[in-house]
Order: sequence, then C-alpha cells, then structure tokens
Amino acid sequence: MKHARSLLVTALGALAALVAIPPAYGQNTIKVGVIAAFSGPFADYGSQIEAGMKAYMKEHGDSVAGKKVELITRDTKGPAPEVAKRFAQELITRDKVQFLAGFGLTPNAMAVAPVVSEAKVPMIISNAATSSITTKSPYITRVSMTIPQIAEPLAQWALKNGIKQVYTVVADYGPGIDAETQFTKTFKEGGGTIIGSVRTPLQSPDFSATTQRVKDAKPQAVFVFLPAGQQGISFMKSFNERGLGEAGIKLIATGDITDDHVLEAMGDPTLGMITAFHYSAAHKSPENEAFLKAYAAANDAKAGAPNFMAAAGYDTMHVIYEIAKKLDGNIDGDKAMAAVKGMKWTSPRGPVTIDPETRDIDQTVYIRKVERVNGKLANVEFDKIPDVKDPGKK
Ligand code: PHB
Repeated sequence: MKHARSLLVTALGALAALVAIPPAYGQNTIKVGVIAAFSGPFADYGSQIEAGMKAYMKEHGDSVAGKKVELITRDTKGPAPEVAKRFAQELITRDKVQFLAGFGLTPNAMAVAPVVSEAKVPMIISNAATSSITTKSPYITRVSMTIPQIAEPLAQWALKNGIKQVYTVVADYGPGIDAETQFTKTFKEGGGTIIGSVRTPLQSPDFSATTQRVKDAKPQAVFVFLPAGQQGISFMKSFNERGLGEAGIKLIATGDITDDHVLEAMGDPTLGMITAFHYSAAHKSPENEAFLKAYAAANDAKAGAPNFMAAAGYDTMHVIYEIAKKLDGNIDGDKAMAAVKGMKWTSPRGPVTIDPETRDIDQTVYIRKVERVNGKLANVEFDKIPDVKDPGKK
C-alpha cells in the first residue's frame, strides 16, 4: 500500500514536471503562423511571401534543430487589423505557434504588436514597411525594409541628377505618409522644392484626377509610393493616358511600383523608369541565383515571377532557422530576440544585418532602371548605397 502510494506520488510528480514545461519545449515541430492577405486585392502579398518561405524550405529541408517546420497560414483578405489580431491570438493560444510571420500590410502588423508583447512570441515581418512598426513591441523584427530607408537615397539621387522640383503622390496610410515625410525632408534639406502633394486612398484609388493635378502643376518629376501590385498598374495607366511623360514629367518611385511580379503586365511604358529598392529579381549574385532556382523548384507556374516579398519570405525562414539552431530547437521569446539582434547573412538582395538597436534590417539600397533583358522587363541595378539604416529612427 505504502509502495503503491509512493509510486503514485512519483507519477504525479513526473506529470507535474511535464505540465510545467512550456508547450513550445514539448513539441516536435516548430510552428510558424503566417498572417497575410491570400485573397482579395492584396492576395499576391500572402502568396509571394509563402512562395518565398517554401523556396527556403525546399533548399534547406523542412526540419531544423531536429524539429519539423510547419507553416500555418491565415488569410486576412486585405487590411483588417481586428481579423489579424484575432488570428494572432488563436495561433498562439490554440495552435501553439512559436513564431508569427508574414504581415504584408502595415495596419495588420500594428494590430498584432500588443498580442506578441503579451505572449512573448517572436514576430518576423516579411513586408509591412512603416518605420515605427518595430518600436511597437520588443518581440518584433523585420527582414523587409522601411519606406524611409528607400525614400532617403532616392531623394539624394534625384538631387544629384538635377531634379529640383517634385510633386509627391502617396497612398494615404502608414508607409505612404512615411514616404512623403522622408522624401520631402531629404529633398528640401538638399535644396529641392516640393510643389504639391496628394495622398490617395488605400482601397480602390482612382488616379485620373491625381495625374491631371500633377500634370497641371508641371513639376520636373513626380515621386510616388503606392503599395505593390494593382495600384502601380492603374497609376501607370493614368500617367500614360494623360501624357505626363510627353509633358516632360519624370517618374521616380520606390521599387514597389515596378514590382517584379507585375512588371511584365505593366509592359513597355515602364521602360526607363527609375526606382530605389532593396531587391530586384535581376540582382546578380550566387545567393540570388540559388533563391530563384529554389523558388522555381518549390512553386508551380501559378506563383508567377518572384518579387521582393518572396525574397523577404525566404529571408524570414532564414531568420527562423538560424534562431532555431542557436536555441537548439527550444524557442523562447526572449532568447529568440537576443539571437536575432545583430544577425548577419548574405540575402538574395545582398549583405544584410538585423540592427541590434532597432531590430530593423540594415542593407544596401539600389538605384535601378527598367530595361529589357533577354526579352523580359527587369529592374536593372546601376547604382548602390551600402549599409543603409532606417532614417526614421536615426
Ligand atoms: C505596407 O502596408 O507597409 C506596405 C504594403 C505594400 C508595399 C510596401 C509597404 O509595397
């Protein structure tokens, strides 16, 4: 009897020890919750990020530190902060994910920040580019870019190339306001003048009135930030229909507009367009070649041409695999964040570092021109500014 009781006590003790182990330690899988739009007007964001993640897993295997890596995707269908927040809560409490990733759109990333702070779950941003996002939680890091990081070198390039008078057109939300603010600041500091600015709605913008206003103001150039995809296509259509190019107005933009995924659909009117960006599918390096090869092997033809979001999805998985290796597969939020600070690697875009102070990515920004290469439209890099930090946090 006594013996039986002590056995029971031992068994209960062992059970208590098991229960006390945080759930992440007991799992044989590393689960990554991927929150993004997979349908609606921003559907390409989710599918490009996921296609890039799959490319990484194809190349490096679907296990790391002895654990199988599992992606669990959730479709926000577009900018939907409340939906993103609910998905984050469910993924953490029900699915027990050890990482959250994805986040194409700023409003969704912002909404999830308090959730990861509370749960201490590392969140890796694969696109959303408003500078302040990484200040909203110590558990956030970003492998894409910030819009000020791209707008500053572009303003400097414009000044160096004799552009002194600009009209700005941006989408009226986080990254657009960041683009307008940074471009205006750098451009004015360098002696340039902003002769007008327009902010267009994030959902279903109509660019005909905007392009007419720009044309009437007769600037030397128009600076544009629009979220990648459909909006760039419609803007370019209006720009051409209203004859802004013929009126001598140059178009300079962040590379979101000549997104490699839709460049072919935009066609010849993009030829000669100058943009600044951190990634081009035409970047020449062994790492980019490996990425493009893995992308083609991991995805079917429906995935289309890879763009900067696919490259960031690939880098998101790189960060997750490296953290998992450092922590021997036992993912703890605080240890994961310590491991990511200062992380350096050669991405398909070039050399990158996760800034230990801001948890944002320090990287080369390239100036590119759209050209036809081997019969296909491409963003050809012709100048570069190495080691650019986010000026939004300088
Ligand atoms: C964003 O919502 O932060 C965002 C979306 C699309 C882009 C860049 C930034 O091309």
